[in-house]
Amino acid sequence: MSAEESLQAIRAQVQQCRACSLHAGRTLAVPGEGPAESQIMFIGEGPGFHEDQQGKPFVGQAGKFLDELLGCAGLKRSEVFITNVVKCRPPNNRDPQPDELSACEQYLDAQIEAINPRVIVTLGRFSMAKFVSNGRISQIHGRPHRAAGRMVVTMYHPAAALHQPDLKKTLMEDFSRLKQFLQEPEKPAIPTPTVPPAPKKEAPPEQLSLF
Ligand code: URA
Ligand code: SF4
Repeated sequence: MSAEESLQAIRAQVQQCRACSLHAGRTLAVPGEGPAESQIMFIGEGPGFHEDQQGKPFVGQAGKFLDELLGCAGLKRSEVFITNVVKCRPPNNRDPQPDELSACEQYLDAQIEAINPRVIVTLGRFSMAKFVSNGRISQIHGRPHRAAGRMVVTMYHPAAALHQPDLKKTLMEDFSRLKQFLQEPEKPAIPTPTVPPAPKKEAPPEQLSLF
């Protein structure tokens, strides 16, 4: 099965899923979306009101800000895969519960396996907890980690910034730095000292050749 076919199959399963109680309150399940060839995957928390109505991830206020943040990283929404740790909306946007997270994890794992992204970006503490144990977001936001042979970058949730202007700035800075990690995926590992970028080497003078 191609990656695209696998994603389609996962999508169909999610849409019919009743593995946890969140199925009862959903309008539409939100499997996630983006190209099967995406090199980067963004993982949020769970659908909110608008996502539940439309069946698409990050289409509300937090989604608008995510678009802006993607711009800071030099990315377009159309070239990344975006999903959540739970695919159905928790009532009144409450936190997903442990039993819901574990029931839904099979779909996220299958999406990661199908896409095999170079980089995973976690948005908020629930997706962070899947990859980094005992991490505190206030200490490790914006940092690259190695998890299961991949780079995982842990970000604050964009919705957290909607009411906290300081976090907005932090997120924009962290996403701007993400751009560098994407260009240099092999090197970063935790802990990451903040070093200024090395000065660019002067290009060697062009060799003139007459023949
Ligand atoms: N917040 C999330 O975590 N996911 C969405 O899809 C929308 C808002
Ligand atoms: Fe199934 Fe996940 Fe929806 Fe629960 S949240 S019903 S596990 S798709």
